[in-house]
Amino acid sequence: MAAINGYPALAELHGRDLLSSADLNSEQTLALLQLAADLKAGRQRVDLGGKTLGLIFSKASTRTRVSFTVAMARLGGQTLDLNPQVTQVGRGEPVADTARVLSRYVDALAIRTFAQEELADYAHWASIPVINALTDLEHPCQALADFLTLQEAFGEISGLTLAYVGDGNNVAHSLMLCGALLGVNVRIGCPVGFEPDGTVLEQSRTLAAAHGSSVEVVHEPVAAVRGAHALYTDVWASMGQEEEKAERERAFAGWCLNEELLAEADPRAIVLHCLPAYRGLEISAGAMEGSASRIFDQAENRLHAQQALLAALLSG
Ligand code: CP
Ligand code: NVA
Repeated sequence: MAAINGYPALAELHGRDLLSSADLNSEQTLALLQLAADLKAGRQRVDLGGKTLGLIFSKASTRTRVSFTVAMARLGGQTLDLNPQVTQVGRGEPVADTARVLSRYVDALAIRTFAQEELADYAHWASIPVINALTDLEHPCQALADFLTLQEAFGEISGLTLAYVGDGNNVAHSLMLCGALLGVNVRIGCPVGFEPDGTVLEQSRTLAAAHGSSVEVVHEPVAAVRGAHALYTDVWASMGQEEEKAERERAFAGWCLNEELLAEADPRAIVLHCLPAYRGLEISAGAMEGSASRIFDQAENRLHAQQALLAALLSG
């Protein structure tokens, strides 16, 4: 299988893991977005015939599971469902054993789990690329699709401002890191007590400083969205936080991404949400279905961004 010509920055990604958005540098991130756009437009073809991606998902998923499966199919490869319920993982077979055995059968693993440390453990023991398909800490595949969607709306995105209003969670963390690499200013608006992780904040600020952008945290919704080019939100209670749902709904009162907040943004602003969404909680039905919404393009772009990622990690 030949390397993908025309994307020199991607050559270094062959055989690598993607555990965090910060595992990529800015050139690699931009090259992945370019390849994703080229694959989407039919300007590029990649053949991963004979390659198999294993999916280990300890949490529910519609978009990530289906987009990885279809991405591999479109590239001529295949996927295998290795959910803990159907493998010995559910019976407690150690990661060290599972990862080494699976490395003898499949060509890459996409893993959705709780602790980032478990993902890192898989990556340590596996001799094949391991992809973060969402952990409690990060969602790097989502961020690639998100910035592809922003590029489609604005062309050049360096210097733009993306405002994320809501919980300082996994999705917010990857947006901060990936945005910083791309020179996009990222403003996180959240109630006190729901800020992003301090280490990720520091890391993203260091990356932003190197790329002429900023990462801010504010505690007032209008201050967060004023003049922004993209308004983004996610659920207030992530998977694993179901018991905190009622308490979080109280804490996030007044933080709904709605038409009033949208009116404070740049007139060209787009609305994004990683989905699944709760209309009437973190986002209004009007903001979700209105003309500024790019939410379903964003969901589609998971497919194109992950095709690019799989091509970079597996071809060549
Ligand atoms: N956005 C996202 O990751 O969706 P799923 O949980 O359906 O995969
Ligand atoms: N923050 C959400 C994202 C779901 C795609 C969660 O972790 O449940």
